[in-house]
Amino acid sequence: MSAELAGFAHNYLPGEREGAGVTLLLLHGTGGNEDDLIPLGKQLLPDAAILSPRGKVSEHGAPRFFRRLAEGVFDHEDLLFRTHELADFVDKAADQYGFDRQKLVAVGYSNGANVAASLMLLHPGLFHAAVLLRAMVPFQPEVTPDLSGTPVFLAAGRRDTMIPPDNTERLAAILQEVGADLDLRWKNVGHPLTYEEIEEAREWLSRILDPNGDKTTQ
Ligand code: MLT
Repeated sequence: MSAELAGFAHNYLPGEREGAGVTLLLLHGTGGNEDDLIPLGKQLLPDAAILSPRGKVSEHGAPRFFRRLAEGVFDHEDLLFRTHELADFVDKAADQYGFDRQKLVAVGYSNGANVAASLMLLHPGLFHAAVLLRAMVPFQPEVTPDLSGTPVFLAAGRRDTMIPPDNTERLAAILQEVGADLDLRWKNVGHPLTYEEIEEAREWLSRILDPNGDKTTQ
């Protein structure tokens, strides 16, 4: 059941104790809404809390997280404004629902992955980790954020006609330059996600969130 906060229609689902206090911030693709990615979130981490907002921008009725001038050409000013606005929403949601800000994991698909990447570049401390599914460069950062050690899973399709592979490669290079712990997975697929990729993202998430896993033992 959708609620409203700071002008964002959204869903919040509290997590189970076994979810280790993680909250997934689910960010849908163009034309999606706050309900779309909930099954994906449940698949990725069944016991996590879920915060799932609907993008405020409407492109001929299709919700998005920021305006674009054409496919793959972003309205830079709007992108910056919407990114800060979304970060503010997350902050207010943490106050309202009482989830742990330190354990927020972004999960974005397509336009949602692009705004997640923008949030990482403009608000580097916001996410504990991020799962970016079909993402491209939101903007070239002028100031170098510090994303040292932030785990990022980036799933890309070699045959994606919406997200040019060389653009994803550029995003990967930017994330690595700013210190993110990047796991880039290429598949010979198009824009839609495959079951195999979701399964890989699920395994990756459980590994990086495992207190005995790689991240905390290094
Ligand atoms: C974007 O506009 O963010 C990308 O082109 C992906 C999409 O169409 O959602």
